[in-house]
Amino acid sequence: MKSEIAIITGAAGLLGPQHAEALAEINFDLILLDINKSKLNTVENNLKLKFKNTNITSFVCDITNENNLKKISKKISKFKNKVTVLINNAAINPKMTSLRGRGKSSMVENYNIKTLKNEVDVNLIGSFICCKVFGSLMTKNKKGSIINIASDLSINAPDQSVYSKYEKIEKVKNFKPIGYSLSKFAIIGLTKYISTYWAHKGIRCNALALGAVRKNQPAFLRKNIIKRVPLRRLAEENEYKKAICFLSSDDSSYMTGSTLIIDGGRSTW
Ligand SMILES: NC(=O)c1ccc[n+]([C@@H]2O[C@H](COP(=O)([O-])OP(=O)(O)OC[C@H]3O[C@@H](n4cnc5c(N)ncnc54)[C@H](O)[C@@H]3O)[C@@H](O)[C@H]2O)c1
Repeated sequence: MKSEIAIITGAAGLLGPQHAEALAEINFDLILLDINKSKLNTVENNLKLKFKNTNITSFVCDITNENNLKKISKKISKFKNKVTVLINNAAINPKMTSLRGRGKSSMVENYNIKTLKNEVDVNLIGSFICCKVFGSLMTKNKKGSIINIASDLSINAPDQSVYSKYEKIEKVKNFKPIGYSLSKFAIIGLTKYISTYWAHKGIRCNALALGAVRKNQPAFLRKNIIKRVPLRRLAEENEYKKAICFLSSDDSSYMTGSTLIIDGGRSTW
């Protein structure tokens, strides 16, 4: 039985519960963080039903609120088991379906700086604050693995023509937001910095760059993405679980500062 705790941010979204399951399956206790109270409750209850022997605690919080995270950290530091894993997964990750209506405001020419700052604040600064607060906790025990969830958009720029039915850039109405690209590229920088900064304290830090997951995308969008993926399909939401286990455990003991890309080959082209 492991006596270690993994913290997962954005635990109530699409992939958070998958990361949580992966870690519960290798006997980590779980701390789930999310800003969405009702979804977090549901996820926590579902996990508790599935993993009866796992200690699961959740905290509703905004990862950009440092004081709030410090309070949570103080509570966690009193737990019997120690935090050895942090998954920085929370992000503003607008699904293209939810961007309808954003239209011209998603263009660089019109991009609202407040929107941009908010995206960078959550996706990048929030991840940094979690590193600062929970990483500091790990350094006390001289053991830890931080995993920053990146994207194929941490490697390449979005091909915006994907978002048009006829793959014509001139016809794109809703662009993938630049705030997402900026923050997801910067997550790789954060990963490299933290990996060297804390290596001597036993903390490893890696990024996991994911490709698009199959969900309720409109058929045309799915078709357009698949054309750009050498494996000719989108990821299933459970296909990153083994990578999470690998990066969280001693199986990756000689790996730090790296980006593990799992995107069906999309960023190879
Ligand atoms: N889904 C994909 O296809 C895909 C592809 C590549 C990378 N990713 C990355 O994977 C991660 C998870 O993606 P997802 O699809 O599950 O996203 P999601 O939008 O479904 O979930 C994100 C979660 O983060 C939470 N959150 C947002 N702002 C927060 C804040 N300030 N404080 C605390 N929690 C906050 C949300 O409430 C939500 O539950 C993200 O980092 C995303 O960039 C996802």
